[in-house]
Amino acid sequence: MFRVAIAGAGGMAHMHASCYTANPNACVVGVYDKRPDAAAEMAGANGATAYAGFAEMLEAARPDVVDVCVPTPWHVDYVVAAAEAGLKGVVVEKPMGRSVEDCERMAAACAASGTPLFVAHVLRFFPEFAEAKRQVDAGAVGTVVTVRTRRGGSFPRAWENWYGKPDWSGGVILDLVIHDLDWLRWTFGDVERVFAKGISPKLPPDSEVNSDYALITLKFKSGVIGHVEATWADPGGFKVGFEIAGDAGLLESNFNQPAGVPFVAALQRGAEAGAAVAVPESPTAVNPYYAELDHFLTCLASGATPSITPKDGCEAVRIALAAFESAQTGEPVVLP
Ligand SMILES: NC(=O)c1ccc[n+]([C@@H]2O[C@H](COP(=O)([O-])OP(=O)(O)OC[C@H]3O[C@@H](n4cnc5c(N)ncnc54)[C@H](O)[C@@H]3O)[C@@H](O)[C@H]2O)c1
Repeated sequence: MFRVAIAGAGGMAHMHASCYTANPNACVVGVYDKRPDAAAEMAGANGATAYAGFAEMLEAARPDVVDVCVPTPWHVDYVVAAAEAGLKGVVVEKPMGRSVEDCERMAAACAASGTPLFVAHVLRFFPEFAEAKRQVDAGAVGTVVTVRTRRGGSFPRAWENWYGKPDWSGGVILDLVIHDLDWLRWTFGDVERVFAKGISPKLPPDSEVNSDYALITLKFKSGVIGHVEATWADPGGFKVGFEIAGDAGLLESNFNQPAGVPFVAALQRGAEAGAAVAVPESPTAVNPYYAELDHFLTCLASGATPSITPKDGCEAVRIALAAFESAQTGEPVVLP
């Protein structure tokens, strides 16, 4: 039984907590959030204890695993502290960090203490994305020429409007499209060059937005061209799609959450109430968030290497921040 302590008690932390609570091999023993009422509520719902400080939680709750679900700029603080505490494992939500340097610090701290670090790139556990990679690897579409992805929905409302502060969230390029960037790199290999256009990268520092959009072109080392689109400006429901074109066929998937009039009205009511972070969902029997966390715990129990490494987390952030830079300068960025 893995004892799990969670940093953060917002939208994603609730999702992770419910997955651990449902898992026969895990239990949530501690919750820390800088908002004590949020920590108390989430702890109560999961039979855990809320703590007033992170260090105090590590000391008193004696977790095996720490799961970091605070907003992105603060991932590094809790991952490094957890690594230094010598736990059995650490989970960090995507994007791994706000900068490549932060990602490298987290990877180095966990490597130094021998603590497995799992970056929660959940898309790899969505059946349609996992199956597409399997079919590409098996040659189902032949030699791939182009890949197109699209992801987005309404603007996410959360603590302190942190998603709306590009300095904190990185806008759609770092926060949202990172899902696709990791899946694309996993499926098509390393990226050589990036060119992007977007709304939030062009704004002055300290800006606050209530929508965002980006279009990114990727040139992979393999020669594949990627066309990657992300939006936080679509009130009509969360939509995800991809199309992979090869010389032997075409693979396509589209997933649109219902966008009928009642759904849109409910979404607007949620946004007005200040609580509407759309997360990708899957209609399949096994929740992909449960699957990813169960995979990590299973690896910890067996000593196997998790399927997502700290390097994967760093590289996805590197590609996203290259796209952000390209959208700022209007020039393509060549990756090292
Ligand atoms: N995998 C996915 O599909 C997915 C979906 C949504 C969010 N996320 C990621 O999860 C992370 C959290 O996002 P969220 O939507 O849950 O945010 P949120 O705003 O809903 O929750 C964040 C919580 O962190 C707390 N907090 C803020 N700064 C803190 C600090 N320094 N120390 C302790 N607590 C702090 C806030 O009080 C809040 O309760 C982000 O990295 C985000 O990108 C992933």
